[in-house]
Amino acid sequence: MKRLMNKVIVLTGAASGIGFASARACHGEGAIVVLTDIDADAGKLASRSLPSSEFISLDSRNDSAWDGVLDSVLDRYGRIDALVNNPGIGIRKGIEKHPLGRLGQPHDIAQGVVFLASDESSFMTGAELVIDGAYSAR
Ligand SMILES: NC(=O)c1ccc[n+]([C@@H]2O[C@H](COP(=O)([O-])OP(=O)(O)OC[C@H]3O[C@@H](n4cnc5c(N)ncnc54)[C@H](O)[C@@H]3O)[C@@H](O)[C@H]2O)c1
Repeated sequence: MKRLMNKVIVLTGAASGIGFASARACHGEGAIVVLTDIDADAGKLASRSLPSSEFISLDSRNDSAWDGVLDSVLDRYGRIDALVNNPGIGIRKGIEKHPLGRLGQPHDIAQGVVFLASDESSFMTGAELVIDGAYSAR
């Protein structure tokens, strides 16, 4: 049984990087994924690579645009099981300062997203999941 079978998951900043890796991982676990991104061309391309997914253009900083996107998802699927709000200010740390000797990859974060969106984490409320290869524990 796939871990996210038929769950409806909306992701922002999902055209590339961590957002796309998360969308792909959720899709691989059976979710219906709705990709959103400020970059419509890249978003449509990303969505085409995930059968049955859909792309909606959204600048996540634009508060007034959210209602339309969420209403459209609710109209179409009747519910939203998880919302992954991904874009922010990119942070790149020097690899030499990283305890595990490598930077985190998008799929490292994507696995956390799958866990949080799945029923496996249904008893977790408000806890933070730190996925940083021990960077913050130095
Ligand atoms: N990559 C890292 O090393 C790293 C480390 C720590 C934290 N993060 C955080 O993880 C998140 C994603 O990182 P990433 O490397 O995948 O980023 P990225 O630069 O690859 O961007 C991801 C996507 O977000 C989209 N985007 C940017 N601004 C947007 C907006 N206002 N509305 C909608 N979409 C928007 C971009 O078009 C892109 O498709 C960011 O919040 C970043 O700060 C990344």
